[in-house]
Amino acid sequence: MAYNGLLFDLDGVIVDTAKYHYIAWKEIAEELGITFTEKDNERLKGVSRIRSFEIILEIGKCSMPETEQKLYCEKKNDLYLSYITKMKENEILPGVREFLEDVREKGYKVGLGSASKNSRIILDRLNLREFFDIIVDGTNIIKAKPDPEVFLKGAKELELSAKECIVFEDSLAGIKAAHACGMMAVGIGIRKLLAEADLVIPGFEGITIEDIEDSL
Ligand code: G6P
Ligand code: MG
Repeated sequence: MAYNGLLFDLDGVIVDTAKYHYIAWKEIAEELGITFTEKDNERLKGVSRIRSFEIILEIGKCSMPETEQKLYCEKKNDLYLSYITKMKENEILPGVREFLEDVREKGYKVGLGSASKNSRIILDRLNLREFFDIIVDGTNIIKAKPDPEVFLKGAKELELSAKECIVFEDSLAGIKAAHACGMMAVGIGIRKLLAEADLVIPGFEGITIEDIEDSL
């Protein structure tokens, strides 16, 4: 199969922002008297901001009107922004920049497919924006992963068919979203957690696109 497009998730694939999401959500949870652990934080990976807060409320067996939930989400995002706007380029995950440089040189079209509404801020902060032909993120999608909307839109904007695209994802919801539209899915992380992926790699260090295509 000839692959022409690569669609990257952002959080957990390009940069480890999970720790910043965690400390920001933890502060909100503490304010509400909810115990929120790092293990709980795993459940928020790939999940939208509002859904993340709903999960935290579920953990704390709390309920709250929607308008108030939105205020807490805004507060969380202000905290999160205060961390990510201080991020350094050395927080880009190992091998990512080299991999992006290499695939661009080889002529692949490259897109971002993320649930985050902060993706442009993060890419700019890390000086990675130039590598992406298109960005589809939480600001222009309606349905969250595992719905395939984000990747379908990505392929469309790259003017490619789904079959020509490979998705890189660290969350199970993202792998499911890729499969739901017939794309190959490469899991970034641990096989046990990403069993449904077509291939799982620990990260991009020392890996080429040829290695990946050969294994699919
Ligand atoms: C990514 C992360 C999630 C986060 C979501 C929304 O998918 O993995 O943990 O909740 O983006 O991010 P945002 O930056 O819009 O709050
Ligand atoms: Mg992710």
